[in-house]
Amino acid sequence: MHPILTIIIPTFNEVNNISKIVEKLESALSTVKYKIIFVDDESNDGTINKIRLLEAQKSNISLLLRIGRRGLSGACIEGMLISKTELIAVIDCDLQHDEKKLLEMVNKFQAQQNLDLVIGSRHTNHGKSEDGFNKFRKLGSDFAILLTKKLLRIQSTDPMSGFFMVKKNSLLTVIDKLQPNGFKILADIVACSNRTQKKWEIAEVGYEFKKRTSGQSKMSIIIILEFISLILSHLSRGILSIRFILFGMVGLSGVFVQLFTTFLSLNLFIQPYVIAHSTGVFMAMTSNYYFNNLLTYQDRSLTGSSFFKGLLSFYLICSAGALANIAVAKLFFDNTEIWLLSSLMGAILGAVWNFIFSSIFTWKAR
Ligand code: GDD
Ligand code: MN
Repeated sequence: MHPILTIIIPTFNEVNNISKIVEKLESALSTVKYKIIFVDDESNDGTINKIRLLEAQKSNISLLLRIGRRGLSGACIEGMLISKTELIAVIDCDLQHDEKKLLEMVNKFQAQQNLDLVIGSRHTNHGKSEDGFNKFRKLGSDFAILLTKKLLRIQSTDPMSGFFMVKKNSLLTVIDKLQPNGFKILADIVACSNRTQKKWEIAEVGYEFKKRTSGQSKMSIIIILEFISLILSHLSRGILSIRFILFGMVGLSGVFVQLFTTFLSLNLFIQPYVIAHSTGVFMAMTSNYYFNNLLTYQDRSLTGSSFFKGLLSFYLICSAGALANIAVAKLFFDNTEIWLLSSLMGAILGAVWNFIFSSIFTWKAR
């Protein structure tokens, strides 16, 4: 009998959960033939060795180790791409999702041949999330769900779920449109399916989102910004990528850094305008680099000495834009003496310049 199901388990520092999830899957799926693919992004807590030991013992377990990269969506996409079975499930490693529901999901596919996707939902019958979330995260989660449903026309009661099972043939119709740099792979899949010819048949299975008992959640402000970008990306019908939008957000923050620094050096340090403005531009370049490294390119973030090498090359690449920025600001200031207007004009020109040139030369957008 061939396996019919591949279970993708993304892992990042989950050493205490590896054996547990495998055991739990074994008892939950005793009647189904399945494979497990762990997709790890270089955990440093012993997770990889743990998986390798199991991989050696059990023929249905494999490890896909990604080198020099991070990101939950990307990990799931790559795991799904090497799956060979008719059905593919994604489940977190930290035992917060309910592996017992996988059987129910398989049964749904067998009962209804035209089904494309089954979503594990915390917000339908038998679904619950109170225990797994603190109050603040619950509120944020509810708001994000509402936003996703409205903006992306997703009908599901839990588009933000990270627990689902999909038919491989259906997934293949959207997989090249999915964005690897995000956290909400399911929302991306469903939103992409809305842009295909055939309307997907989607069912739901309620599950209780449990408390994490070991390890840490990777949820962060970065993930929220990524998610906002995912929504904007779909609103642009995929024309703007997540990365492109994050780059824009960072650029916008740079304008504020630039203006604020100029304001301080004019009023606190009483510098002449051109010096004050140039200091602002320099600070903005530095903070843009920092935030692009943290956010826009977090999947290949530079650290240690590479961080400083990257910073130097970034200064070099932006220097033409910075000079254009300063020249325009000076021109405006000489004629108007209004520093805010002049600096803003400089910033706009500098931003357009850097955007055009860095997308042509440095980070060609996908
Ligand atoms: N390979 C890889 N790379 N795995 C990752 C990464 C990464 O960069 N970040 C997180 N993971 C793994 C974790 O090890 C865990 O197994 C799973 O992905 C989920 O990460 P958590 O950090 O525990 O996420 P969460 O609990 O805040 O949110 C999860 O559950 C929600 C409810 O279903 C995610 O699945 C959310 O997408 C989901 O909304
Ligand atoms: Mn979790």
